[in-house]
Amino acid sequence: MKENRVATLMMDDGRSIELPIMSGTMGSDVIDIRGLGTLGMFTYDPAFVSTASCSSSITFIDGEAGLLYYRGYPIEQLAEKSDFLEVCFLLLHGELPNAKQKSEFSGKVMKHTMVHDQLARFFNGFRRDAHPMAVMVGVVGALSAFYHDSLDINSPENREISALRLLSKVPTIAAMTYKYYTGFPFMFPKNEFSYVENFMYMMFATPAEDYVPNQKLVRALERIFILHADHEQNASTSTVRLAGSSGANPFACVSSGIAALWGPAHGGANEAVLKMLEEIGDVSRVADFMDGVKDKKFRLMGFGHRVYKNMDPRAKVMRATCYEVLEELKLEKDPLFLMALELEQIALRDEYFIERKLYPNVDFYSGIVLRALGIPSNMFTVIFAVARTIGWVSQWNEMISDSERKIARPRQLYKGATQRNFVPLANR
Ligand code: CMC
Repeated sequence: MKENRVATLMMDDGRSIELPIMSGTMGSDVIDIRGLGTLGMFTYDPAFVSTASCSSSITFIDGEAGLLYYRGYPIEQLAEKSDFLEVCFLLLHGELPNAKQKSEFSGKVMKHTMVHDQLARFFNGFRRDAHPMAVMVGVVGALSAFYHDSLDINSPENREISALRLLSKVPTIAAMTYKYYTGFPFMFPKNEFSYVENFMYMMFATPAEDYVPNQKLVRALERIFILHADHEQNASTSTVRLAGSSGANPFACVSSGIAALWGPAHGGANEAVLKMLEEIGDVSRVADFMDGVKDKKFRLMGFGHRVYKNMDPRAKVMRATCYEVLEELKLEKDPLFLMALELEQIALRDEYFIERKLYPNVDFYSGIVLRALGIPSNMFTVIFAVARTIGWVSQWNEMISDSERKIARPRQLYKGATQRNFVPLANR
């Protein structure tokens, strides 16, 4: 019996309030605290550890059980049986496409892959050695200068076209960022390729030579894209929703998501994993490094998760992909990979990690795969951003269509000075 349940909050001054309990289709129930205002109080929950900021029908995570579903489909099934554009359609529209829908959707996405020629000139304003994420924040944000006038966010058709533009153009901008950084000429998209093949082509081809994508590596990158496509209300997605709640341009909102993703506690973790492995340098130093982690001198990057207190289901798929890619490229004896395996094994047996429920997350393995694909570590978070664009756009679209939408405006517990009078400079 789940209907009409309430939680009763008793105050120390004798007042009380009944707060409705809400249930979703899966997962924890939530207490609807919106009525608390009648008591003149707010809740205090820094970092939103116990707060559901919205209702959503897109992605479900059960962190204790290690489950991740997109629109009800387990991530393992999608990673094995689906492809990235099909997953994009699913996230955006709620259902897997039929054959006609799939071909129309792919056609539309691939038709928008080129960027305005003027946009290419933005790159010249950046230093060649700028971090690629800094360039991404700027250039993706700049898309808002190209498509602002034609965008009525209250029109579903306008939102759809913005979603398609982002999905199509972010990989092109990401590949241009890489080319700019390395000094090679930009490669125009080739729409006869699949979405992932085209991305690899724009990244790795040069005008001087033919490029034939290796299908095993294409499949590995496709999996990385699928696994990273959405992850419910994480820091970057919440940032996109928060920015979007004011009615801001979606290209600017996605740029704010890219900024939030950049940090090492979020999307920057796979880059941080590689940096950590390079710093450790040799398998013989792993044990010492782990002592430092347990003394809290540094964190073991690629381990732990705010929500997963069990193995990250994406990590299982990525671990298997990691083996496949290294075998294909004959890199099984790669010293960095051997070091990663040693770290993983020590951590999985160590009490420090067991009692804190710290398991490898997807980024522990994705960095190794991306490195094997020939992608430099400062581009790893960019790849994550390419994959997550569809999640950001789908969540933004869901938020704008939500009848409960309001501008997001958290409150605070103020701990600063109480009222005081201004002191003239001469008296301070
Ligand atoms: N290495 C060592 N100790 C850790 C780690 C770690 N990676 N993560 C958490 N802990 C310890 C932490 O010191 C604390 O110990 P104690 O209880 O003794 O103070 C305890 O575990 C709980 O940590 P927390 O900071 O309260 O956990 P959180 O939920 O706020 O942090 C996290 C989650 C992902 C930020 C954190 O685990 C972390 O920094 N991990 C490394 C970075 C990383 O791999 N991030 C990628 C996340 S997956 C990609 C994505 O979805 O964005």
